[in-house]
Amino acid sequence: VNDFEHLLYRHRSIRTFKDTPISIPRLKELLKAAIHGTSSSGNLNSYSMILTTSPEQKQKLWKLHLEQDMILEAPCIITFLADFHRVRQWLKKSQARDGFNDYLSYSVAAFDTLLLSQSVALACEAEGWGICYMGTTLYIVEELQGLFDLPPTVVPVTSLVVGVPAEEPAARSRLPLEAYLHEERYHAYDNKRIEELYAERDADFVKRYATNLEILERCKQEGVQNLGQFYTSRLKYYPPHAWRYGEAQG
Ligand SMILES: Cc1cc2nc3c(=O)[nH]c(=O)nc-3n(C[C@H](O)[C@H](O)[C@H](O)COP(=O)(O)O)c2cc1C
Repeated sequence: VNDFEHLLYRHRSIRTFKDTPISIPRLKELLKAAIHGTSSSGNLNSYSMILTTSPEQKQKLWKLHLEQDMILEAPCIITFLADFHRVRQWLKKSQARDGFNDYLSYSVAAFDTLLLSQSVALACEAEGWGICYMGTTLYIVEELQGLFDLPPTVVPVTSLVVGVPAEEPAARSRLPLEAYLHEERYHAYDNKRIEELYAERDADFVKRYATNLEILERCKQEGVQNLGQFYTSRLKYYPPHAWRYGEAQG
């Protein structure tokens, strides 16, 4: 097992942070290294990042990100933006044909941005800091565009909180490699295979919540009997944007 594998196996999302600042100059060195160490489509590097450290901005982000307290605890938050604005300004200045203002370009920029975010995450973890992603970024794209004064073709795709860990959570489980890796062609999953692959995870769910009376009670209220049902219930992924999407679809 090499050093990089050690780093990967040490990974845990960290949501509780010490009241200690992290060095912003050091963070900037890591961001520079992450940009260097990450491939990007056409080397256009169609991303930007916004660093939030001020208590006022953190408070606003906390409100928008469904009040996730890790935002208030962490010394800094990095919002990752899919950004074709900068490239398009460069095209304009170069008197080149305009481009990259379509859905394909958004996807390209979003993928580049996510690749960068994971390099930043690993660089921070290698430094001994803790990180957690915030998927809530996708629920509040328009609000963040307002908060950060984003011009057209700049779209938030994810965020990381970064700080000195104040917890050592147990590793979260993954399915065995065979669950994710197909040889030569795809093999669709039938009930039997799903049962084999998810048995441990399903059992863990029962164990994890068997003693948590509050969650047990809420599961009962919502009719949730297993982990699969939990995921699409009101207790987990039932965000307001899903409602909006549902309504838009009629
Ligand atoms: C794109 C993305 C969005 C996430 N969003 C959140 C979030 O909003 N809040 C949170 O507490 N954890 C969030 N997480 C962390 C996941 O819950 C976590 O990675 C997962 O449970 C596995 O745990 P581990 O990272 O400790 O291995 C997110 C992770 C990813 C990759």
